[in-house]
Amino acid sequence: MIEIDFATADDVPLLADLLAELFTLERDFKPEREKQLRGLQWILDEPALGRLFVLRVDGKVAGMANALITVSTAEGGRVLLLEDVIVGRAHRGGGLGRQLIEHVLGWAKAQGMTRVTLLADRNNQLALDFYRKLGFETSHMSVLRKKL
Ligand SMILES: CC(C)(COP(=O)(O)OP(=O)(O)OC[C@H]1O[C@@H](n2cnc3c(N)ncnc32)[C@H](O)[C@@H]1OP(=O)(O)O)[C@@H](O)C(=O)NCCC(=O)NCCS
Repeated sequence: MIEIDFATADDVPLLADLLAELFTLERDFKPEREKQLRGLQWILDEPALGRLFVLRVDGKVAGMANALITVSTAEGGRVLLLEDVIVGRAHRGGGLGRQLIEHVLGWAKAQGMTRVTLLADRNNQLALDFYRKLGFETSHMSVLRKKL
């Protein structure tokens, strides 16, 4: 049975496991469990910041998405920053990733959000193909970062 729901505090350690796998894949990040646990808990404690979604297969955590809420002056309203999307290795390629993203975007739309933005490692062709299939387009903006 497939369920997609908001994460609870009990899910946090398993979500940190999924993030460890994701941050090993993405060159900009590295797994640091304490930081991931703190970040996840922060979002759970402050729903105005966003929502953590969890995908369960037969009651077990199999995937996640982090739907962060921000405000766009271009849109004149709330928009979504989609982060931390991962489906566990054992469950990939069966349509669960699509289901998860469509669920999250449906939620965001119902909240009145009008745009979703995400970043993907430019070498992660699998993820880029996946998002294109779901209707995402490459932006003309470049991402720049500075550690503070
Ligand atoms: C990206 C990811 C979430 C996709 O989840 P998934 O459950 O495997 O994807 P789905 O089975 O729902 O596939 C959805 C669509 O993407 C396509 N797709 C999935 N994997 C693909 C691949 N390796 N190559 C090309 N297309 C692919 C599918 O063909 C499918 O198209 P369809 O719905 O028209 O048939 C999953 O592969 C993953 O967790 N990867 C590792 C973490 C990651 O890279 N996350 C993204 C960070 S930005």
